[in-house]
Amino acid sequence: MMNRKSAIMIVAAASVAVAAFAIGRLYAPEPQERAEEAQTPDTPQIVNIYTSRHYGVEPVFDSFTEATGIEVRFTTGTDALLRERLKAEGANTPADMYIAVDAGNLWLAAQDGLLAEVDSPTLQENIPAELRDQENRWFGLTQRVRTLMYHPDRVSPEELSTYEALADPQWRGRLIMRPSTHAYTQSLASSLIAAHGPADAREIIQGWVANEPVLIDSDTQILEALAAGQADVAITNHYYLGRILQDNPEFPVRIFWANQEDRGSHVNISGAGITAHAPNRDNAVKLLEWLSGPGQEMFASTNHEFPANPGVAPHPIIAEFGQFSADPLDKAELGRLQADAVKMLDEAGYR
Ligand SMILES: [Fe+2]
Repeated sequence: MMNRKSAIMIVAAASVAVAAFAIGRLYAPEPQERAEEAQTPDTPQIVNIYTSRHYGVEPVFDSFTEATGIEVRFTTGTDALLRERLKAEGANTPADMYIAVDAGNLWLAAQDGLLAEVDSPTLQENIPAELRDQENRWFGLTQRVRTLMYHPDRVSPEELSTYEALADPQWRGRLIMRPSTHAYTQSLASSLIAAHGPADAREIIQGWVANEPVLIDSDTQILEALAAGQADVAITNHYYLGRILQDNPEFPVRIFWANQEDRGSHVNISGAGITAHAPNRDNAVKLLEWLSGPGQEMFASTNHEFPANPGVAPHPIIAEFGQFSADPLDKAELGRLQADAVKMLDEAGYR
């Protein structure tokens, strides 16, 4: 018989599981239902997605449904949680597609055998080679630049140059950064390892740490703190500023493209892959191709990201941020180096 304590633990575990996944039109069919669905030709066409990208996705999926008749059902959570869920569900997963907001997590999903190869001339044509997996298991759909942000009353752009230069003692007590636990920080650290090797990268991070940055685990809150004068310079993704400027053009934070004199600014991707056990693989491939082409502009611009497809124009607000050169580092490196980056951040004392 179950004692009271274990019953409470089960209830607690169940509510954690519920809390871990915000649900948007969740569909989790029973195994028999999956089998019937695969065999009956006139069942409604659907595609199920696990997505950590949730900002403004609904109108995009609705637009795909209008164009194709295929209904989109999606479940949201963080990259890592959804990856763990795919792994736990194995061949019984209802998910056809995994959408992540960090190249490192796409790489890890592919490493774990969770994503299937997709041989699609459309995707090859629409997505540049450095933004997709060489084995066609994941494809970048949008680009996000993690770069310097500053308060224009406190800093002039002439004082800024690189991520590395923020290790200079002149920035002591003037910085805000995101904690080491976040994938965005880890991927930026991976790019520093790729550029400098582990020893020099650690020294740069140690320089940041010596400047005692305030750590805030939300890019939006970082920008708000910067606007409020709590610090002078921060590192965030570009689109958070785009989002705020859309509602408040007077917001007192400016963007600075880092490392323009050397390798370029750090670019991460959000992207997607078809799951290894997708029950609706054909529909998922159609959606992926659509997102890389007809749906690209909408998918990228609702979140003020740069389209992965070079033939698609960026949203006017981020176009105003001006031209920049991007670090050409292969996005797979952000995954390959992630474990080293986590270790290095820890060794450098970056919390
Ligand atoms: Fe984000």
